[in-house]
Amino acid sequence: MQKMQSSIVALSGSGLSAESGLPTFRDAAGLWKQHSWQELASPEGWRRNPELVLEFYNERRAKAWTAQPNEAHRAIAALEQKFAVTVITQNVDALHERAGSKIVLHVHGELAWARGTGPSRRRCRIEGAPIHMGQHCEEGTQLRPDIVWFGEETQYMEEAREIVALADKVLVVGTSLTVYPAAGLVEFARDDSERVVNSLELDAVPPGFRFLRGKATDIVPKLVADWMSGAAAAP
Ligand code: OAD
Repeated sequence: MQKMQSSIVALSGSGLSAESGLPTFRDAAGLWKQHSWQELASPEGWRRNPELVLEFYNERRAKAWTAQPNEAHRAIAALEQKFAVTVITQNVDALHERAGSKIVLHVHGELAWARGTGPSRRRCRIEGAPIHMGQHCEEGTQLRPDIVWFGEETQYMEEAREIVALADKVLVVGTSLTVYPAAGLVEFARDDSERVVNSLELDAVPPGFRFLRGKATDIVPKLVADWMSGAAAAP
């Protein structure tokens, strides 16, 4: 009888893409240290100054479009050779997919998509292109980035909780675990799962997780090599 493939979930945040040249949010040079999220990432900000919001995301989209996946993205994708892997990411870039990961849930939306501002919320793919004022979706409303702003509903959460609760191994990488409900996903990990968190700094390591401090491109490929070779977890 064939043994069921064991499962891994990777929960990623902006620190994973930092070494691809994309900024984080709360580190010293982070986006929310230089810009106001109230102005740029909230429905109120959008109502007040949509031009400014579009400009901010147009710049981020263009930058994300030319960025390349790094060794950590690629190592996570390589896990699929041996494990059933789901990536649950807070990141809005497409670097996991471009590294080869097949199942990626973007709980905070995606830069490569736009959507109308009317009731249908129908999405359209824009890849790396800018969104302009006056550009409408099929239902005739102004297009906006398909990004989850503060005060809006995080996507795929029910599915994400179920996937975390079933995983044999959980890798958290490059997130400060400060933005809920996404940060709360770690609480759904099974007590008997192997749980690892990699980041440069972390205010509080979630209970049951082993903290691996360092750059994702140093830590994740080594961890993946251990998991691929079946090496036991270090205490
Ligand atoms: P943060 O900026 O809050 O946290 C980034 C984390 O990555 C920190 O813990 C850093 O120590 C770590 N880090 C930085 N460089 C790293 C590297 N090279 N290798 C490993 N770790 C590194 O970013 P997020 O947790 O992703 O939401 O932020 C969560 C959400 O807040 C974002 O999705 C965004 C933001 O508001 C929305 O826009 C809706």
